[in-house]
Amino acid sequence: MNYRHAFHAGNHADVFKHVVLSRLIALLCQKETPFAYLDTHSGLGIYDLYSSEAERTGEWLEGIKLLLEQANTPELFDDYITVINQLNVDKKLQYYPGSPMLAQKLMRPQDRIIFNEKHPEDAQLLKQNFRKDSRITIHTQDGWLLPKALLPTTEKRLLLLIDPPFEQTNELDLCVKSLTDAIARMRQAIVAIWYPIKDQKNLNKFYNQLKMSNAPKLLKAELMIKPADNNLGLNGSGMVIANPPWKLENELTTLLSYLSNVLTENAGTWSIDWLIAESVK
Ligand SMILES: C[S@@+](CC[C@H](N)C(=O)[O-])C[C@H]1O[C@@H](n2cnc3c(N)ncnc32)[C@H](O)[C@@H]1O
Repeated sequence: MNYRHAFHAGNHADVFKHVVLSRLIALLCQKETPFAYLDTHSGLGIYDLYSSEAERTGEWLEGIKLLLEQANTPELFDDYITVINQLNVDKKLQYYPGSPMLAQKLMRPQDRIIFNEKHPEDAQLLKQNFRKDSRITIHTQDGWLLPKALLPTTEKRLLLLIDPPFEQTNELDLCVKSLTDAIARMRQAIVAIWYPIKDQKNLNKFYNQLKMSNAPKLLKAELMIKPADNNLGLNGSGMVIANPPWKLENELTTLLSYLSNVLTENAGTWSIDWLIAESVK
């Protein structure tokens, strides 16, 4: 386990993933009934963009920094940006929220929050960062085992985020397996999987496996920062979302078209399509 998210916090992929997460939480909050949030690969929860790790890569300079410099950001970004502003004095950007901090700030007293992080040092820091919130439980196991271990939840509504490091070659397969495990236990669960795009050709098998999965509905959204014709770096990223709230597809159109302009000086591309439009199972 060499991956440390501190090197990548606030990059274009984080901005995309985290604004989508903030919208999923906002849409779930439109109903009073409680929901549970399970984050199988949590990281630290909050990142210092002036740490030696973040300074070494500077990835956030081409991610969250560009977004925060804009004057008229669409309202759909408000929840996400408000959390970032709460962490930073006088809007000087130093601290960046990971998925756990976003969930903690955006979820309500009646909701339940489960984090999981396997890296021993990061798990320790995650525990320190979220000591005093009685809504939160923290696990330190193999995240791939959690959908089977923890589902179904007592809450009828669940948001499951699967955001692994993609260090091992089988992690796309494991994403499909976790999705299948989750849907088998909770057919209505909203499952969001983030994945990197280096060379898009390598993803065809993943798309086909997802199409054959047991998800009732499965939406795919991708944001490309650079052309996906080389396998060298992170050219873009994608999210697949099982059982998306019905407003999400429209919201993603606004979010992705805006991000692709802001993060790439109009050179980016984006797409939204249904891998499974309507279940036949
Ligand atoms: C991409 S980062 C997560 C970032 C976080 N979700 C966010 O958005 O702020 C992936 C994390 O998974 C952790 N990890 C790696 N293998 C794991 C496993 N098998 N189970 C749980 N966590 C794991 C890594 O230590 C890393 O912190």
